Amino acid sequence: MLSVSRTFLTQAKRSFHSSSAAFLKVGDCIPNVEVQGSSPAETYKAGELLGDKKRAILFGVPGAFTPGCTKSHLPGYIKQADDLKAKGVDFIACVSVNDAFVMNAWGESVGNKGEVKLLADPAGSLAKALDLNFDATGVLGNHRYKRFAAVVENGVVKKLFVEPDNTGLNVSLVENVIKQL
Ligand code: BEZ
Repeated sequence: MLSVSRTFLTQAKRSFHSSSAAFLKVGDCIPNVEVQGSSPAETYKAGELLGDKKRAILFGVPGAFTPGCTKSHLPGYIKQADDLKAKGVDFIACVSVNDAFVMNAWGESVGNKGEVKLLADPAGSLAKALDLNFDATGVLGNHRYKRFAAVVENGVVKKLFVEPDNTGLNVSLVENVIKQL
């Protein structure tokens, strides 16, 4: 009887926590959750999109047009796209919980000419699946990506840099990531 109760409690605990996926880690595949490109009609399964790239960088930002993302994070990857290419990076993508139109306008505003593929995750579905989201309701109105960067080879995460305070500009910046390649 006691063991039945324990089993029940363990299962109940697991199902309670199952709403949150496990935090993305090295060795994981990028899940096949749908994201958008330059318009809502341009859709990709994230796993497939990254799965056919030999070495990609996927970085996530709290929000398009926010100061840190606009002055540092995205421009850094645009400026150093050739340096990354020289290190075997054949695809750079940035994802945010924003709609595709906003992501497009953001890219134009910082002079992105396709060096970085901007991916919109408007409902935060990929962010949730990766468990790389945090509650930014007070500032940005909803859950957003923790600032992170991942080196992904053939769809598998090889290195992962997540800002410990969610929004800082340190480990996930191109200056750090390029040193790790
Ligand atoms: C930023 O500057 O990138 C930022 C600002 C507010 C919330 C999250 C990020």
